[in-house]
Amino acid sequence: METIKTGLLGFGTVGQSTFAVLQRNQGEISRRAGRGIEIKRIAVRDNNKARAVLGETDAVLLDTDAEALVCDPTLDIVIETIGGTTIARELVLRALANRKHVVTANKALLAVHGAEIFAMAHKHGVMVAFEAAVAGGIPIIKILREGLSANRIQWIVGIINGTTNFILSEMREHGIDFETALERAQRLGYAEADPTMDIQGIDAAHKIALMSALAFGAPVQFDSAYIEGIKGLAPLDIQYAEELGYRIKLLGITRRVADRIELRVHPTLIPTQHLLANVEGAMNAVVVQGDTVGSTLYYGKGAGGEPTASAVVADLIDVTRLHTADQSQRVPPLAFQPDQLSNLAI
Ligand code: NDP
Ligand code: HSE
Repeated sequence: METIKTGLLGFGTVGQSTFAVLQRNQGEISRRAGRGIEIKRIAVRDNNKARAVLGETDAVLLDTDAEALVCDPTLDIVIETIGGTTIARELVLRALANRKHVVTANKALLAVHGAEIFAMAHKHGVMVAFEAAVAGGIPIIKILREGLSANRIQWIVGIINGTTNFILSEMREHGIDFETALERAQRLGYAEADPTMDIQGIDAAHKIALMSALAFGAPVQFDSAYIEGIKGLAPLDIQYAEELGYRIKLLGITRRVADRIELRVHPTLIPTQHLLANVEGAMNAVVVQGDTVGSTLYYGKGAGGEPTASAVVADLIDVTRLHTADQSQRVPPLAFQPDQLSNLAI
């Protein structure tokens, strides 16, 4: 069967790793997808940058014309790894209007403009897949949508920002200051282009808002979240907490309270013997409480190129399978269906 044709928007940490994983594991990937997945073109901002992951013959894939990519009639899927809520929004909406499925790692985009984007996908009969947008390599979107679909979800609590967890771990374990720890996280490719999104808790709020919408069948309500980051924490806070038997973690929390939803992100004192207190570095962990299954825990790498590419490529495989299958087999949907949302409010 012919390969499925994709275009990649952005070729930074996530984009390059996605390209590398598709090349390295192409045998397994095409077997699972039912056909090969080919990146036909890549759009970047600056085409003079060196791209270590590209072979000599691949350099022709790159250009700076993202507009042309999302309009390219030969592409079936657009992979968005630019980030942010401005240019990415325009390009994703354009791609959907051109009847291309979209795979994105961009939680900010979906938390802020999700309603518009999912409505556009619905209108044009295409899919938006976003496993990589929450908790990096942990397949938590699949868990919420499929694995726990028999449950009435009661609450979700998670360490869902790798950068801040890495900073808190480095400050505690190595006694280094906040700025040095942040620089390390940036060098390792964990931080957002604007790291204040991580530090102020906004990135975690984007992610908990998406999980909350999936778990409770409510519209994405990022704007109503209570958000407090880790910028105000000093090494002494971390040290005193430790002496009292606690560790400080930035948690994202959402829960059902009667007919409302609670949505918050803030530093939290956790007893040192608790599982979540021992999630270190850029690792993430998410606990989901369902009425049927009880408490379940998911743990893994929450940031960085390869773990995120693991989720992007998994979505590509799913979308390829579903694109190839008959329309009636598109269950469960990869996008929120606007007409299935309830009116639960924060
Ligand atoms: P990077 O900053 O490393 O890469 C961004 C890429 O977008 C760059 O290649 C850049 O081009 C390109 N770009 C920027 N503006 C344009 C434009 N106008 N037209 C075309 N290309 C453009 O970001 P990341 O890879 O770290 O993150 C990408 C997305 O993935 C974000 O939404 C982020 O939140 C999400 N994400 C990131 C994770 C991580 O661990 N890094 C984990 C999970 C999700 P150029 O290279 O030429 O500058
Ligand atoms: N900046 C994000 C983090 C990337 O540190 O968790 C993964 O979403």
